[in-house]
Amino acid sequence: TGLVTVDPGFMNTASCESKITYIDGDQGILRYRGYAIDELASRSSFLEVAYLLIKGELPTPTELEAFEERVNRHTLVHEDFRTFMGTFPRGAHPMAVMSSAINALSTFYPESLDPFDEETVELATVLILAKTRTITSYVHRTAKGEPLLYPDYSRGYVEDFLRMTFAVPYQQYEPDPVVVEALDKLLILHADHEQNCSTSTVRIVGSSHANLYASVAAGINALSGPLHGGANEAVLSMLAEIQANGGDATDFMTRVKNKEQGVRLMGFGHRVYKNYDPRAAIVKESAHAVLTALGANDELLDIAMKLEEIALHDDYFISRKLYPNVDFYTGLIYKAMGFDPSMFTPLFALGRMPGWIAQWREMMLDPATKIGRPRQVYTGATERPYTPLDER
Ligand code: CMC
Repeated sequence: TGLVTVDPGFMNTASCESKITYIDGDQGILRYRGYAIDELASRSSFLEVAYLLIKGELPTPTELEAFEERVNRHTLVHEDFRTFMGTFPRGAHPMAVMSSAINALSTFYPESLDPFDEETVELATVLILAKTRTITSYVHRTAKGEPLLYPDYSRGYVEDFLRMTFAVPYQQYEPDPVVVEALDKLLILHADHEQNCSTSTVRIVGSSHANLYASVAAGINALSGPLHGGANEAVLSMLAEIQANGGDATDFMTRVKNKEQGVRLMGFGHRVYKNYDPRAAIVKESAHAVLTALGANDELLDIAMKLEEIALHDDYFISRKLYPNVDFYTGLIYKAMGFDPSMFTPLFALGRMPGWIAQWREMMLDPATKIGRPRQVYTGATERPYTPLDER
């Protein structure tokens, strides 16, 4: 059996080799397939980045058009699936609805389940990307008890997602271009982040040769935990609490620095980024653009900026290398767009879907892949005789 060492949280264990995403936490670098995240966020589109992550290269104009067209044509879900989505109780947690829905999709497309047939995997990829968009808007509608809308093939991925989420049935709806652009950018920023908790989950489920739907549905469940996908929601509650207590950022920061029980500056710090999170700067810019365009109440943004300003000049945060992470400003943007806080993590899942799919596909094609099966160090009782029930 050899020497087995315990590595809690797999902090020192590389589970695979990967060519998809590169992170240098000390220098604040994030690249997808070699391309810098800020360049992709400012120049690319979400589906183009999805193509890049999954296929390994940027598409040509013809390839991109064909990919967009194929995804677009599959956004409609089966009528029985719509009925199924409508049966969740009002107030059901959106992440539970979302993972159930993606898992249930596999039952509607039995022809797309073989993990080793190239064309079948391609079909499952397109179906999942297309229908996750529809499902995420249905998750929002279901939570509100609102009627579910049909996709409009003439619109782009993000634009039609917003229409299906927010439009009033039978009324014209034109999403603000600033909002479309900002959401597209946020989805790009969330599209992959190498071997984090949910991605590792997708890989380990897939390593048993479970199909793509089962694997990414497991990823959604991993993401639902507050230590992973839930921080954006926590930032918003923190800002709202500061506002409700009179808006004194300095007072709150004193409580953070005194390490008062349960008081942390949410949206700050990162396990990997010890310089800055390159996604945070892009998100901050977007927050300003969206809130200005929507004329949204930005008292919470003011509080957030005050907190950041204090932190960046305070020794407590400097010495611990604590900087804003991607989640510090995302909640404010989603809120301004009209999403409830419970939708923030489903939006994260919508953005992360291409990354999960790319990582699953890479693993399936890697000859070095073995079923995920960690070892343990047993610390229980040594052998002892069984005591009959009536003698206990
Ligand atoms: N506010 C105040 N103090 C902090 C914070 C914070 N947000 N983060 C870390 N510290 C302090 C911590 O108390 C410790 O101090 P000391 O050395 O005196 O004990 C020191 O900084 C190191 O912290 P750590 O907990 O050992 O660092 P970690 O790498 O284990 O944790 C983290 C990383 C992200 C969990 C943590 O920084 C945190 O809880 N941040 C707030 C939650 C958050 O924003 N999470 C989103 C992460 S990005 C999205 C994602 O990955 O899903």
